[in-house]
Amino acid sequence: MTRLTRADLDALPNYVPGRNPADLARELGLPEAIKLASNEVPYGPLPGVVEALAEAATSFHRYPDMGVIALRETLADRLGVPVDRVATGCGSVALAEHLSRAACLPGDEILYSWRSFEAYPIISATTGATSVRVPNTPSHEHDLPAMAAAITPRTRLVLVCNPNNPTGTSVRRADLDAFLDEVPEDVLVVIDEAYREFVTDPQVPDGLAAYGDRPNVVVLRTLSKAWGLAGLRVGYLVAAPEVAAAVRKVVTPFSTSAAAQAAALAALRAEEEMRRRCDLVIAERERVTTAIRKLVVGAGAGAAAPAPAAEPEASADVPDSQANFVWLPLGDRSVPFAQACEGQGVIVRPFPGEGVRVTIGTPAENDAFLAAADAALVR
Ligand SMILES: Cc1ncc(COP(=O)(O)O)c(C=O)c1O
Repeated sequence: MTRLTRADLDALPNYVPGRNPADLARELGLPEAIKLASNEVPYGPLPGVVEALAEAATSFHRYPDMGVIALRETLADRLGVPVDRVATGCGSVALAEHLSRAACLPGDEILYSWRSFEAYPIISATTGATSVRVPNTPSHEHDLPAMAAAITPRTRLVLVCNPNNPTGTSVRRADLDAFLDEVPEDVLVVIDEAYREFVTDPQVPDGLAAYGDRPNVVVLRTLSKAWGLAGLRVGYLVAAPEVAAAVRKVVTPFSTSAAAQAAALAALRAEEEMRRRCDLVIAERERVTTAIRKLVVGAGAGAAAPAPAAEPEASADVPDSQANFVWLPLGDRSVPFAQACEGQGVIVRPFPGEGVRVTIGTPAENDAFLAAADAALVR
């Protein structure tokens, strides 16, 4: 049959969404399953969002404001930047793609740490750019000196995921300062701060406060996570005015929908409640991290579930997370572990051969995960 699409896409992994809990519940004959696989916050839409959507719905037969003026002005106001530095998009993942389209021509290089956000290779490939991946350090962090050394004259875009998805690790101020000083001024550095609201380590910089004055730095954020709007698809970036203008030029027209604009404005008015919910998530993150470390140590030491001889001891290796998930570097045990959790009605996200990412849910959901993990680890 005549080939109608690019052959190189065959080698590209698909983006893997979290499994639908209703399907799993049906399969297991349970009233419900728990989804801890997509880094969502479990507490429902923020107050005012549903009402704002209902009000906006009367105009859904009209196109939305393509300039996204009210939302961009509100964001600019909150962030203390001029509105021409702000662009919005259909989720921050779309903005990352628009940035690559705005910065790269086929054959140019996009540099990022790996393992990191699974959309980066897809974004690079669809732009026709070449992915340059620098392996994480043994402690699952970005290797910034190695990334600086990997910059070539073809590098147009560098993605720094802070905190990093899926490992939860983050880069600190002094290291990022040194890195940015080494990046040529004609290379864009995107600091992807999808999980910024969950950061508690004062050494992890707020990209905008720390680097907002650098013209080649772009700060990417989302309302999908802490702000509870994953289903509505709205993200934003702050960049130099000409970079933001270039992004707005390549953006798919009207891709910040009327619903997304209305909901985002309402969510941003509920900042106090957002903060309260993030604090709950952060407290649970610490509890789950401590508990899972103990479980992994127990399982690693126990006769029932010996780690393969070549595999490093995973216990101490569960890194501190600054996001709303934790990373279990279980290596070859990742897929069986995730399958065993699913068998208990808890959906987590395995990365075959590497690890398992577990989103922090409500205390009850986390307890269910820990019980499932306990069972999974002593098999
Ligand atoms: C690091 C990172 N960046 C960006 C995104 C995309 O978020 P959204 O497109 O929902 O704004 C995600 C989502 O998981 C992420 O983990």
